[in-house]
Amino acid sequence: MVILVRSLAEDFIRTSLNSETRKEKLMAHAGKRTLRHRPPTEVKKEVRRRQTKVRFLTVTDNEIQDSPAFFETEEFRCYSKHASIVQFIRDFWKWNEKVLWLVNSTSQPYIELQTELAKMIGPRIADAGTLVDLGCGAGDFCIRLMAEGFGGKLKKIFAIDIDWKPLADIPENLRVAGYRRSVALIQAATMSTLPVWDETADCVVSSLGGVMYAGSWFDEDGKLVYEGREALDSCLKDVNRILKPGGYLALSVPKPNPDWGAVLRSSILHSVMHGHLFKLIRALKYGSQARAASAFMNQLDKDGRAHYLSSQDWAIALHEAGFEIVDSSFGQYYAKQGGLIVAQKK
Ligand SMILES: C[S@@+](CC[C@H](N)C(=O)[O-])C[C@H]1O[C@@H](n2cnc3c(N)ncnc32)[C@H](O)[C@@H]1O
Repeated sequence: MVILVRSLAEDFIRTSLNSETRKEKLMAHAGKRTLRHRPPTEVKKEVRRRQTKVRFLTVTDNEIQDSPAFFETEEFRCYSKHASIVQFIRDFWKWNEKVLWLVNSTSQPYIELQTELAKMIGPRIADAGTLVDLGCGAGDFCIRLMAEGFGGKLKKIFAIDIDWKPLADIPENLRVAGYRRSVALIQAATMSTLPVWDETADCVVSSLGGVMYAGSWFDEDGKLVYEGREALDSCLKDVNRILKPGGYLALSVPKPNPDWGAVLRSSILHSVMHGHLFKLIRALKYGSQARAASAFMNQLDKDGRAHYLSSQDWAIALHEAGFEIVDSSFGQYYAKQGGLIVAQKK
C-alpha cells in the first residue's frame, strides 16, 4: 500500500514538473514568435519594456515579515562592478549605515529641508499620482510627505537607490506611516536609463538624493559614456523622459562647497534650545563619526562626480533638459547650506 501511494505521488510530481517545463517552453516560444514578426526597432523597444517591468508590492495593515522582493536593472548589475563605481557604492553603504538614521531622527536642519520640499511639491502632486524617488534611502521623504498630509494622493511609489539595505526597510516604514498603496523597490542608480517607462511619473523627487550624484553615465551595455556635467545632463533628460507632460521634478541639494560642520552645529544648537536631551546626546555621541563618514561627499564634489551647483547652474542644466523652474529657495534652509527646486516638464 505504502509503495503504491509513493509511486502515485512520484507520478503526480513528475507530470506536474513536465507540464510546468512545457508551459515555460511554450510561453518562451510564444514570446519569441510575437517578437519575430516585429521590425528590429520595435523588438529592441519590446525587449527593453520586458526587462524593465518592475513588480509592485502592496503595503497593507499587516506587518512586513518577509524580506521584500527587489528589482535590479541589468545595467546596474554591470556597471556596479566598474572600478570607478565600486568605491562610490561602498562609501554610500557606509554613510547609510552610520548617518542616514541619525540625520533622519536627530538633525533638525535635515528634517526641515525634507519638510519644506514636501510642502513645495505636495500640492502639485496629482491625485492617484505616481512618484519616483531617486536616492530614496529608507523612504523618509515619502514619510515626510505623508506627515504634511499629501500621502493620500500617492498611488504608486518607485523607490530607487544604489543601496539595497535601506530599500529593504521601506515597506515597513511606509506601513507605519500609514501608506496603504503600491511600492516598487529598485536597486539602480541615476547613472543609466531608469527602469521606468516613458511619461509614467507625475512627480520625480530627489531629496539630497541620486540626481546630484549622477556623476557617470553608462549605456545599455554598461559602457561608460559620460562623466561630470554631461552625466548630469543625461540623467536630467532621462528624468524628463519618465515624467508625464507637465509633471514635476522636486530637488533638495546642498549649495556649492557645503559646510557640513555648520549643519552639525545647527543640529546641536537646535536640540539645546528646545531641550531635546536624547537628540542632543545622540548628536554629540555620533556627530563626529557622521562627519567623517560624510567626508567622501566633498571629494566627490572636487572630482566632478557630485553636483553641488549654484542656483544659476541648476537653472541652466534644468532648462537644457526641458524643464522650467516654478519654485525655488537657496540658502534659506539646512543651516543655510541647502537649496530647494521644483521644476516642471515643459
Ligand atoms: C543623503 S541620502 C538621502 C536619502 C533620502 N532621500 C532622504 O531624504 O533621507 C542619499 C541617498 O542617495 C543614494 N544614492 C547616492 N547616489 C545615488 C545614485 N547615483 N543613484 C541612486 N541613489 C543614489 C544613497 O545610497 C543614499 O541612500
